[in-house]
Amino acid sequence: MREDLTKINNTRYTLEKIFPDAQDFLPLLGTDYVEFYVGNAKQAAHFYKTALGFQSLAYAGLETGVTDRTSYVVAQGKIRLVFTTPMPGEDNEIFDHIKKHGDGVKVLALWVDDATKAWQETTKRGAESYFSPKSEKDADGEVIKSGIKIYGDTVHIFIERKNYKGTFMPGYEKWESHHNPEPVGLKYIDHMVANVGWNEMNIWEKFYNDTMGFANLITFDDKDISTQFTALMSKVMTNGNGRIKFPINEPAEGKKKSQIEEYLDFYDGPGVQHIAVATDDIVSTVSDMKKRGVEFLYVPGAYYDTVRDRVGEIAEDMAILKEHGILVDRDDEGYLLQIFTKPVTDRPTLFFEIIQRKGAQSFGKGNFKALFESIEAEQERRGTL
Ligand code: FE2
Repeated sequence: MREDLTKINNTRYTLEKIFPDAQDFLPLLGTDYVEFYVGNAKQAAHFYKTALGFQSLAYAGLETGVTDRTSYVVAQGKIRLVFTTPMPGEDNEIFDHIKKHGDGVKVLALWVDDATKAWQETTKRGAESYFSPKSEKDADGEVIKSGIKIYGDTVHIFIERKNYKGTFMPGYEKWESHHNPEPVGLKYIDHMVANVGWNEMNIWEKFYNDTMGFANLITFDDKDISTQFTALMSKVMTNGNGRIKFPINEPAEGKKKSQIEEYLDFYDGPGVQHIAVATDDIVSTVSDMKKRGVEFLYVPGAYYDTVRDRVGEIAEDMAILKEHGILVDRDDEGYLLQIFTKPVTDRPTLFFEIIQRKGAQSFGKGNFKALFESIEAEQERRGTL
């Protein structure tokens, strides 16, 4: 599934279409990077290196001629994360973003073959422009970028880099560091999830369908995703080759306040809820991350009393999965293993999912109840349930 990209030469790609309901006008090669606006980019980058095993990649700031911001770029597998902090100056939108949302995801950047066409095709179908196509050059070549606005203050930036050979992008230099912790085995971004407001899920489904040609892969209603106290609904949108998947959550009525409402209160509006990153060995990845200080959601031990009845035989030792709190689910194509971190920000907003797919292409529906009961226990402690 991930070998569907055939590179014919430096500038031409053929993308196999896996989801026939998706349209072809916006070919996406993959996720290019995710950019976070944060209060202290230097310290955020250090956390992602030390705790999550990312590697130093690139830097932009005063030393590289960038005066309005400082950015650190880290990488692991195919994943690139950018942490950006504003520098003093009036009208710096990054300050406003951090004041309103706290640390959070600003940009979901998508790798394209033609950023000009991507902007034209999406804006003519109704997407609001963030910025029109622009070229940035340095000694390593040219990157063309364009951007559109999505939910809340979040944006997509289309990145065309077929004529660029540098470390990351013009304006950045290679970041050489003497602190290079081992990777923890994270490979690529599996999916990135939005929380949107009441009754807005269908609006954003339509947005991804109309302006970006995405198809609805699966829908979870409030009966699929509920506990005795709270509920939510979700639709998973995918592009044609399946490389980009965006689940979109909205709150649903329940006896108590759902995690989506808590997010919307603390993020002050819609935004990115979690980023799921894939590994080939979840036990090793999670035990490494724990040793380095990452906190994961606690799953009641009773979950494992019935899990084998639900998922059947699996290759992993169930006692080890239980020790780490790793969840298991099965669908028609195989099974998956997953675990969720506690929020990685001070506000109860953004978290990460670690996922290992062993055939399954679904999202762990069988784990929703246990997972959301675990989140409710955290909400109870925060006084936000
Ligand atoms: Fe997820």
